[in-house]
Amino acid sequence: MAATGLISESEAWIDLKDHVAEINKTHLRELLTDTSRCEGMIKEHDGILIDFSRQRATQKTMEKLFSLSKVAKLEEKIKKMFIGEHINSTEDRAVLHVALRAPRTEHIFESGRDVVPDVWEVLDKIKDFSDRVRSGTWVGATGKPLTDVVAIGIGGSFLGPLFVHTALQTEPETAKAARNRKLRFLSNVDPIDVARALNGLKQETTLVVIVSKTFTTAETMLNARTVRSWITSALGSNAVSKHMVAVSTNVKLVKEFGIDPENAFAFWDWVGGRYSVCSAVGVLPLSLQYGFENITKFLEGAWSIDQHFRTAPFENNLPVLLGLLSVWNASFLGCPALAILPYCQALQKLAPHIQQVSMESNGKGVTIDGKVLDYEAGEIDFGEPGTNGQHSFYQLIHQGRVVPCDFIGIIKSQQSVFLRNEIVSNHDELMCNFFAQADALAYGKTPEELRAEGVPDYLIPHKTFTGNRPSLSMLLPTLKPYTVGQLLALYEHRIAVQGFIWGINSFDQWGVELGKVLASRVRTQMNASRTKGKPVQGFNHSTTTLLNRYLKVRGLGLSMTP
Ligand code: F6P
Repeated sequence: MAATGLISESEAWIDLKDHVAEINKTHLRELLTDTSRCEGMIKEHDGILIDFSRQRATQKTMEKLFSLSKVAKLEEKIKKMFIGEHINSTEDRAVLHVALRAPRTEHIFESGRDVVPDVWEVLDKIKDFSDRVRSGTWVGATGKPLTDVVAIGIGGSFLGPLFVHTALQTEPETAKAARNRKLRFLSNVDPIDVARALNGLKQETTLVVIVSKTFTTAETMLNARTVRSWITSALGSNAVSKHMVAVSTNVKLVKEFGIDPENAFAFWDWVGGRYSVCSAVGVLPLSLQYGFENITKFLEGAWSIDQHFRTAPFENNLPVLLGLLSVWNASFLGCPALAILPYCQALQKLAPHIQQVSMESNGKGVTIDGKVLDYEAGEIDFGEPGTNGQHSFYQLIHQGRVVPCDFIGIIKSQQSVFLRNEIVSNHDELMCNFFAQADALAYGKTPEELRAEGVPDYLIPHKTFTGNRPSLSMLLPTLKPYTVGQLLALYEHRIAVQGFIWGINSFDQWGVELGKVLASRVRTQMNASRTKGKPVQGFNHSTTTLLNRYLKVRGLGLSMTP
């Protein structure tokens, strides 16, 4: 690599840049006729099949990407992650979310300490607690079983657990395990979210789980205080010990909040917030809802992919292949976005979760050693289950901008419906779209084809589809706890691969800090204006005008508990 140390100066990067011209001469229509190319781009591991053949890439592209991975020291970086090196150097932390799903027999060290026994100590505690709550041995202040759980948390302390909960809600076995129980999430500091989360719940049957790595996040702590006052207003202050528990790395603040440390479930600073769903952050609320045994299967699925990621040669390594191709799309083919399109309603919250994992991890402007990037890192992730997305934003991805797509399909649906007189089952109908969309994007429709169909000339430009739009297709056998775990780990590691190639630190998140500081200044002003009539001062013209307008309506924001 040359003087600046940026990977963009390496021969491998430049070679890939030059290779774009060659790829631009191809069209997926032709690339898809090459059966041996396509066969080489279909990979399988532990029941998951991924077809990369609709990527704008050839075997040569893959070889060049593997060369780039050598320059980026990808293998070394993956190894360092798994052995607990402090690869999150700006926070001086290890990145060991893989240890959260390690079997008891494993040994994974952080600063000389085997963390696997620590992980299992918390898992055992979760099992014991969730069993007691679910069986009605642990009761609320009035002696009633706690059938409903409200998990309060935001960002990584919310999105992962919500994704998994949504994925398991309609799965027959987990749905059975959750019968007569409710799990709600409260994330936004918006009081509307409080109202929605508590709507229809009774204090005496509700258990509140406060989830915050730091236990300082403003939104979570205000929501926690709000719900605590909802509990105590009905049941008295002694009820907190029976109705409120916490998940955090900060036991001191948990105690100060009034929660018995016995009712606190720990995790560690080597678990990033957005990578924490496999810690007590997700495992506690999910075990309360679905039972610990089901959630261990979710951990096992994630661990299966962890092992594959750690050991499989790159040519067959699913997260590595996914990550390299994402870099190819974003940094070389000029596609900054990724659409995550599960053809499965139960995966409705996959895209919002991956959005945080990816964008908070890789939305960086400097390398891990602080050098300004001369290429774009990060990708804009969004998505919606098919077929809903088809009736929303697919117009743009078919005829507007080029947005690489992940199509995710499930072979055996959680729900089976086959109506008499219909030619296919309802799930098959859904999956017809899964298969069709990928080809529609790849092949498009030419003016010649349209003319042959008798389309009038003036409509030909409007009805033409250029095609050549990249996607990948992923098939999972079922959507059960195990496969949900696999899917999660697949995306987590793909995102790590991207960051390792871009040479950034995918595990810090300094970019979220500035807004928090400014909000705190506004909070001080708001209080001074509302309570002492102090004029708005120290803000620019725009913010001053907006704040004055907002504060003109008196008496707002001073209302009572919910
Ligand atoms: O949005 C910033 C962030 O720090 C995320 O990284 C994190 O997931 C979220 O806030 C919540 O943090 P905590 O779990 O400490 O409340």
